[in-house]
Amino acid sequence: MEKYVINGGNRLTGEVEISGAKNAAVAIIPATILAEGPCVIENIPSISDVSMIIRILYEMGASVKLVNKSTVEIDTAGIKKPVVPYEMARHMRASYYFLGSLLGKFNTARVSMPGGCDFGTRPIDQHLKGFKSLGAEYSIDHGMVDVHANTLIGSQIYFDVVTVGATINVMLAAVKAAGLTIIENAAKEPHIVDLANFLNSMGADIMGAGTDVIKIRGVEHLKGTAYSIIPDQIEAGTYMAAAVATKGDVLVKNVIPKHLESISAKLEKIGATIEEYDDSIRVQMDGPIQKASVKTLPHPGFPTDMQPQITALLTLAEGTSIVTEGVWDNRFRYVDELRRMGADISVDGKVAVIEGTGHLTAAPVKATDLRAGAAMIIAALAAEGQTEIEDIYHIERGYEDIEKKLRNLGADIKKISIPGGSVRKVI
Ligand code: EPU
Repeated sequence: MEKYVINGGNRLTGEVEISGAKNAAVAIIPATILAEGPCVIENIPSISDVSMIIRILYEMGASVKLVNKSTVEIDTAGIKKPVVPYEMARHMRASYYFLGSLLGKFNTARVSMPGGCDFGTRPIDQHLKGFKSLGAEYSIDHGMVDVHANTLIGSQIYFDVVTVGATINVMLAAVKAAGLTIIENAAKEPHIVDLANFLNSMGADIMGAGTDVIKIRGVEHLKGTAYSIIPDQIEAGTYMAAAVATKGDVLVKNVIPKHLESISAKLEKIGATIEEYDDSIRVQMDGPIQKASVKTLPHPGFPTDMQPQITALLTLAEGTSIVTEGVWDNRFRYVDELRRMGADISVDGKVAVIEGTGHLTAAPVKATDLRAGAAMIIAALAAEGQTEIEDIYHIERGYEDIEKKLRNLGADIKKISIPGGSVRKVI
């Protein structure tokens, strides 16, 4: 087992290069199952969630060639059986994208119930409702989800909640279905648009991605393609928040500033100066961090995947801030860890009230999930003294080379092995 040791107090300055988007990559890689030729995918982030998705494809029979650190060539012609091995898939949320892509390709799929970060209940009823509308039957037994259709037929689907996962899964299943599928109340996240662009580059006919109505006209064949994944909105937002927390001056490169608007607006409210360029953003912070109210919402609202990071930041403000979680039932489990560092936070259901004291002190803490881990890093960078963060495998699921990138910005961070600690399998 490994942990991060961070000596707080260094201002972050300089430039950081953002990697490809995790939540786009984990949808696009399973989507290669639908192609009738090899796909070359560029700007793939080097993180453990992506390694696991690629490994699942490989175990199923795909050929995978690493062209360079961030480019892979995937040929899924060798996949003959639409079944995802149980042990590999059950810990990962994104493994459910194999349901949509296998169903779309083979009209049948068997995949374990997905895992992922624990934010309370994480149902998949909307995914199943979508598959059913396309003509599929489903059953769940022994932890496995089975979906099967004689023929997939385009249909009109209205989601009861805005869901990224179900929007993506239905796109994957519908792209080769006969006729027209209309998804209403669709999610609008940048990775939905990226997946639609990827599928369209394979020959799909998808319109409206990025709005709440997506129209998919089924096609018979999808060809191999070459495609570059968009930059990671949340990785970028995390470095922006870290720059503010340390009163730094950071140029965040390889970003799409439009995807960061809700984050930039909130950081400006907190007191930061933000300058947008074509594909980079400069974040500077001089004065005191101001209190703020934040509510997370589906895109284009403030992203839930930035909620722990902004909460950590607001513990450094003077005065009372309020953070409301508008997507997940229970995404404040990590506040106990921030309390160890002196944060005064009370949580009532989906609302956290932060009595900012202007500073934090170092403590031994752990990453309770991926973004909570990022929040601990932000807190540690600003805290007085040496913080040790355990369970960092959560962080490495979604942040490429975070330790190196932060060190390049001037942070005092190192990763050390915990003597006698058992090696936890990274999933
Ligand atoms: N929901 C349902 N029924 C469903 C599906 C979702 O009620 O069938 C509810 C959920 O319980 C939740 C809301 O709808 O309250 C939104 O869930 P969504 O389906 O949008 O989430 P997801 O697809 O499981 C993805 C990201 C998460 C991110 C959310 C929201 C991936 C692999 N995961 O999850 O990312 O928080 O969208 O934007 O894309 C992360 O990267 O740290 C992360 C957790």
